[in-house]
Amino acid sequence: MKQTILTVLGTRPEIIKFSPVLPLFDARFEHVLVHTGQHYDENMDRIFFRELKLRQPAYFLNVGSAGIGPGVQLGRMLERLEPILSKVRPDWVAVLGDTNSTLAGALVAAKLNVPIVHFESGCRSFNRDAPEEQNRILVDHLAALLLAPDRQAVAHLRHEGIDRKRVHCIGNTGLDATRRAMRLVRERQLRKFGVRPEAFVLATLHRAESTDDRARLSQIVAGINEVSEMVPVLFPIHPRTVAMLQKHRIRLAQGVHRLEPIGNLDFLALLKNSLFVMSDSGGVQEEAAVVNRPCLVLRDETEWTRLVDAGKNFLTGTNPRGIIRIAGALLRSPSLRLKIRGKKAPLQFGATQKAIRLLLKK
Ligand code: UD1
Ligand code: UDP
Repeated sequence: MKQTILTVLGTRPEIIKFSPVLPLFDARFEHVLVHTGQHYDENMDRIFFRELKLRQPAYFLNVGSAGIGPGVQLGRMLERLEPILSKVRPDWVAVLGDTNSTLAGALVAAKLNVPIVHFESGCRSFNRDAPEEQNRILVDHLAALLLAPDRQAVAHLRHEGIDRKRVHCIGNTGLDATRRAMRLVRERQLRKFGVRPEAFVLATLHRAESTDDRARLSQIVAGINEVSEMVPVLFPIHPRTVAMLQKHRIRLAQGVHRLEPIGNLDFLALLKNSLFVMSDSGGVQEEAAVVNRPCLVLRDETEWTRLVDAGKNFLTGTNPRGIIRIAGALLRSPSLRLKIRGKKAPLQFGATQKAIRLLLKK
């Protein structure tokens, strides 16, 4: 008899990083997919199901995020998830990463004594104020099967006293997702943005830690604005950041091309043809390494240190001077860009298959 697995997801990066996993869950398990509705705009949600050819969720919790605090958001998720889990009684609950949807899935599963499998386990930024850090620590300590993306993540879990038998270092399904999506990317995806290959830079920004504090946001934007004086910057803007730029009356320079959030195929097409990307995103740091473009990480710390250590990505901090120093060096020197492209990226593909094998063995 097939085991039953119930997946909880709710935001853009979870949909994307679960994209190679969901078809295999469908094939090998009785699989129930639950969408919390944390992200809900067409371009933050449905576009990914369509473009990445994913099955529809069986349950939508319609929780949303606009105008509610994290407590209400989590509360609604818990309240709406519990009856579904009680009815389905799965053998596993699968969650990924560090969002409030991830935490809600894990909390309800733990309360109902359903084992949790946590994808992308063990990542740490050591910034305890960040909601993502709080979420992932809590989920890791509740999970029965912890799927770590790299040795560093395994070491963090060990350091926190988590039973090592629960931890498996399998790589990250995000890498498989990028490979899968790259096969669906078409040449026209670049043309519609009116840019030529290697003649622009891509940017994204959305974390609460980057956007909620006015001083910090204006520093980062000042850095992006300065870069746009040297090269056009394409900036698909997350709705949180749109709201914060407006609230704090922070302006983007003329050279910054402001876009709505775009689909993952468009995003990857742009990324692959960019000079480099500037971003505070977790997922983008790995994607950049897969398509072999440097990522300037607009933060003070990152969970993906192995890509910085390998010389593929750069931690700039949030001060414009730090951002401009690295961006300027990359823009001035084609040979530096080539040198970085020649470096080997520590990327472990195949996490999806490994996760399935582990679950089937249990
Ligand atoms: C969430 C995750 C973050 C992840 C990010 C991915 C938490 C605590 N944070 O942050 O870890 O990196 O998703 O993108 O779970 N909004 C819309 N339309 C949408 C979605 C959001 O307008 O489809 C607006 C809402 O006004 C909301 C704001 O964006 O207030 C923030 O949304 P929320 O889901 O709470 O957090 P994110 O910043 O997206
Ligand atoms: N992404 C996208 N369109 C955009 C911006 C980002 O498809 O306009 C994708 C990107 O390719 C990556 C994912 O969103 O796969 C990263 O999600 P996000 O930055 O929202 O969250 P994080 O990874 O930081 O949790």
